[in-house]
Amino acid sequence: MSGLLEGRIAIVTGAGRGIGRAHALELARQGAKLVINDFGVTNNGEKSDSPAHDVVAEIEAMGGQAVVNGADVADFEQAGALIQQAIDTFGGLDILVNNAGFVRDRMLVNATEDEWDAVIRVHLKGHFATLRHAAAYWRAESKEGRQRIARVINTTSGAGLQGSIGQVAYSAAKGGIATMTLVAAAELGRVGVTVNALAPVAKTRMTEGAFDTSEMALPEDNSPIVAWLASEAAGHVTGRVFESDGGKLTLEDGWRHVASRDKGSRWETAELGPIVDALIAEAPAPEPVYGA
Ligand SMILES: NC(=O)c1ccc[n+]([C@@H]2O[C@H](COP(=O)([O-])OP(=O)(O)OC[C@H]3O[C@@H](n4cnc5c(N)ncnc54)[C@H](O)[C@@H]3O)[C@@H](O)[C@H]2O)c1
Repeated sequence: MSGLLEGRIAIVTGAGRGIGRAHALELARQGAKLVINDFGVTNNGEKSDSPAHDVVAEIEAMGGQAVVNGADVADFEQAGALIQQAIDTFGGLDILVNNAGFVRDRMLVNATEDEWDAVIRVHLKGHFATLRHAAAYWRAESKEGRQRIARVINTTSGAGLQGSIGQVAYSAAKGGIATMTLVAAAELGRVGVTVNALAPVAKTRMTEGAFDTSEMALPEDNSPIVAWLASEAAGHVTGRVFESDGGKLTLEDGWRHVASRDKGSRWETAELGPIVDALIAEAPAPEPVYGA
């Protein structure tokens, strides 16, 4: 195989099915060697068999190289061992695609503490843990004079960027991932790492339960932008959030200062009504929350 990622070494988390599997297959098609991580959970996060072996077999059948990893990405130690497995197996790490996760959708008033903890853990900590270990490796390589051309692609969601009714924990976690992407990009640029995020859209078991998916994009529709961001050609793109929806690729823009008044001293509480109204009038209208 030859492509944009020839000889590069990649990890894709949650790559046993759905969007992660599609990313892994496209990275392999482009020439990357892969660690296929999947802990194996049901759609709402109960432990089940890992489908990672099947994806490794598919990649091998294409003539590519891949190995299985069964780590829970939100377990800090297991996430470290996942990064180490890429280094031990293939001699390094160039690309980390954080994708694993599950949903426990619930309206705010009904959400339980356990559901909140599980969803925040798998997405937010599951991104932090792998990224933290990979960052330590890339910084060490850079210090030793062996700086790698490293790429991270995180997985956010329209729910995390615009908000989504019935997905309070998921939206909070995915919004956190978008912000984590900005911080990681700003911190890791000096050691050769770009960090971007994708909000994908696809018909998978995650969306099949929750929406009408008859017209929805396919998992593999999301993977070319991930493979391109993972390539050496994408070195000038970092700290960016994209959304892909079938053939439509969108650059997202996050929180920014859109209107302000500076009095030069502390405001009196009673004078703030018209000031707040003026700021809102000047600012662009916020995009609607999904489902609102
Ligand atoms: N499907 C969509 O339209 C959509 C939209 C926005 C964001 N996303 C995000 O894309 C990613 C992939 O979603 P999908 O639709 O392919 O879901 P999916 O359920 O088909 O696949 C997710 C995979 O992650 C694995 N996984 C779950 N917890 C894990 C853990 N702790 N460690 C390792 N692996 C774990 C699961 O076993 C599963 O194979 C998720 O982060 C999801 O939130 C999906």
